[in-house]
Amino acid sequence: MPVSLRAPDDFHVHFRQPPLLGTIVSDTARWFGRALVMPNTVPPITTADRLAAYRRDIEAAVGEGCPFEPLLTFKVVQGLADEQVRALAAAGAIGGKLYPQGVTTHSEDGVFDVASLAAVFEAMEELDLVLEIHAEAPGAFSLDREIAYLPTVEWIVRRFSHLRIVIEHVSSRDMLAALADLPPRVAATVTVHHLLLTLDDVIGGDLRPHHFCKPIAKRSADRDALCAAVLSGDPRVFFGSDSAPHPRSAKESDCGCAGIYTAPVAVPLLAEFFERAGLPLTESALPPQSACLESFVSRWGAEFYRLPLNERTITLSESQWVVPDDYDGVVPFRSGAKLRYDIATGGEA
Ligand code: DOR
Ligand code: ZN
Repeated sequence: MPVSLRAPDDFHVHFRQPPLLGTIVSDTARWFGRALVMPNTVPPITTADRLAAYRRDIEAAVGEGCPFEPLLTFKVVQGLADEQVRALAAAGAIGGKLYPQGVTTHSEDGVFDVASLAAVFEAMEELDLVLEIHAEAPGAFSLDREIAYLPTVEWIVRRFSHLRIVIEHVSSRDMLAALADLPPRVAATVTVHHLLLTLDDVIGGDLRPHHFCKPIAKRSADRDALCAAVLSGDPRVFFGSDSAPHPRSAKESDCGCAGIYTAPVAVPLLAEFFERAGLPLTESALPPQSACLESFVSRWGAEFYRLPLNERTITLSESQWVVPDDYDGVVPFRSGAKLRYDIATGGEA
């Protein structure tokens, strides 16, 4: 039976830059109504002009007639001025992304002195922009890096008492537990790969470079805690894929890049994930706050960002397909696997 649900939103995606951008945007636009686009381009999105140019590149790739809407962010870097933040907001940014220095792809220009950015955070608070945080402490041991950044997150939460914050791609039981003690203006995104992988899937047998990402997948207890949070229907835990394509040669390399390309497979994998847990895919006939695929991908994130819910629907059809080995030189997550759901036609809700 085909299943219709409100078009999903992906609240964390990497679109890169032309020419790769041109080929990967459509993999997100096919499945999602909107996506929050990360600013770790080269050079980074730190000015209104760059943001406007990046939007044009994305819109050109989306093409006319496709209802997909990119949601843009800027990068919070040392020395960013509050006037720049105001100009970025006027150009349409809805969030600013904080990368601690050196923790992931293109974060060499990241933040090393959070307190020095007080004027930026105050401007964001005033403009009602969301601060997205890659919460990993530079230099800490890989598996402890996320929780080691908690004191910095807590300092920002305390000091800027109206700022809305998203802890991106939460990957550990301890960070999830900490989220519960933070105010409701703090939320977290969860990726599909962190729901399905542990560190053993990266290095437990042969080395699997296409399972390598930051933050690294951790212990079973961490994955189980993420699954439980998503399956509980917690509205502060919503979907952000962190779909992060790199050319095959940059992954299968002596010094391989972190990032997993999940855009083409995220929704069907999540549908199977909810079904395995015995939960419904859609909200129909459910009381509000119930757990299902549709709330996780199409409601909680939009509500946190104070965006209208998508009115368009997508239809999932039960038609098995095999994930290709390659999307324009990028190896997708679960390549070669058989997936049960594909996307059928769209329509109005
Ligand atoms: O695995 C990752 N890849 N994590 C990030 O935080 C960045 C991303 C990328 O840009 O490749
Ligand atoms: Zn990311």
